[in-house]
Order: sequence, then C-alpha cells, then structure tokens
Amino acid sequence: MPGSFRAARCCAVQRFGWNRLYVLIREIILTTISADGTPHIAPMGVHVAADHLRILPFKPSITLDNLLATGSAVINRVDDVRVFAGCVTGRQRDWPLTAATRVAAPRLVSAPGHTEVELFRVEEDPVRPVLYCHSVHEAERQAFAGFNRAQFSVLEAAILVTRLNRLPRAKVDSELAYLAIGLEKTAGPAEREAWGWLLDAVTRFYQTGAAS
Ligand SMILES: Cc1cc2nc3c(=O)[nH]c(=O)nc-3n(C[C@H](O)[C@H](O)[C@H](O)COP(=O)(O)O)c2cc1C
Repeated sequence: MPGSFRAARCCAVQRFGWNRLYVLIREIILTTISADGTPHIAPMGVHVAADHLRILPFKPSITLDNLLATGSAVINRVDDVRVFAGCVTGRQRDWPLTAATRVAAPRLVSAPGHTEVELFRVEEDPVRPVLYCHSVHEAERQAFAGFNRAQFSVLEAAILVTRLNRLPRAKVDSELAYLAIGLEKTAGPAEREAWGWLLDAVTRFYQTGAAS
C-alpha cells in the first residue's frame, strides 16, 4: 500500500472511526409507513457498517417523512428487479405487503429476506440527512441464488432513470447500450419485463420531459 494512502486512511480512521469508513452499500427496497398508516415502497442504497445501518434519503421524500414519524423501516432484500423498475418508472408501485414481526412498517411478501430496523440517530443535512438505524429482527426465507448480470443491468438502468434530468443524453444512451449486453445474455422473463419498463421511461422522458 503506498505510504500517502496509508497516512490518509489513518487520519480518516482517527477522525471518522472504522465504522464510518468501511461500509458496503446494498441496493434494497425500503418499506415504511406514515403516521396515519399508509405504507410506502422505495428503492434505496443502505450503508452497512459493522454495528449499524445508515439510510440516506434525499429531501423531500416520503421515505424520510415516514422514518422520522414512526422511527422504523424494513430493509427488503429483493431479487425480483421489477420492484426497483416498477417503483422508479411508476409502472407498478403497489407490491404485496404483509406485517413485519417487530416494527410498524410492513415487509414485501416476495422478498427472500428482510431486516427490520429502528432509527436511533439523525444527522441533519439540508440535502440528504443520515438516518442511523439498528436491526431489531432479521429473517431469511430463501437461500441466495447467485449473481445475475441482467439484474445488475436493471439496477443500474433504474438509477439512470432517477437521474435523467441531470445527465447528458449521450451518456444515458451509451450506458444503456453497455448494460444491454449483460441483459441480453443473461436475463429471464422478470429482468426483460423490468428492462422494458425502464426503456419505455427513458423514451417517455425524451418525448415529454417526465419519466413516470
Ligand atoms: C437502486 C436505487 C437506489 C436508490 N437509492 C436512493 C438513496 O439512497 N436515497 C434516495 O433518496 N433515493 C434513492 N433512490 C431513488 C429513490 O428510490 C426515489 O427517488 C424515490 O422516489 C424516493 O422518494 P420517496 O420516498 O418520496 O418515494 C434510489 C433508486 C434506485 C433505483
């Protein structure tokens, strides 16, 4: 390891602590509930540290309002990528939900596994507050099925769809062309359906200015 990198890492560890530095971000479906009992489903990147989880919703968002109002959420580990594509395109937002075990927020019926979390600290920010949570219950209903390149392509394209108004069209087109390679080679029916929803949203955005 180069000396300059080692020194920078050492300073950062002293300043922020190991838990702030060494995190993995997992793309999941977060389910929350409002104070009046309305459930909400949204794709989120959850930062996984050794002893806590961090959720970073941009302002304004229903997810943020619900988490602050009720203090809980469910992290759904989902392999049906249509849930990601359906939510960001508006094609299908209401996926079947059922009661969680320890928190008020519901969980997705189709998720192979989930973690129920409670909020214990909020780091305020005008753009993107940091919500610190800890797990209060975990469940696995289905074994990990292995990686799939088409699912990766759908996830990346779903993120692109949320950024269409900030990205140059040439970048969007070239990224979609690259992602289509893995999609074409490895997709099953669910991945193809999700990909179609996303391509429709991209076309709609360039015709009307709105993706959903
Ligand atoms: C894979 C993926 C990860 C995302 N991660 C985040 C995130 O970490 N924070 C966020 O605010 N939005 C994220 N988004 C976008 C939100 O899902 C979307 O903007 C959503 O509408 C959130 O707002 P809402 O709670 O009002 O529905 C992500 C989208 C995708 C497809």
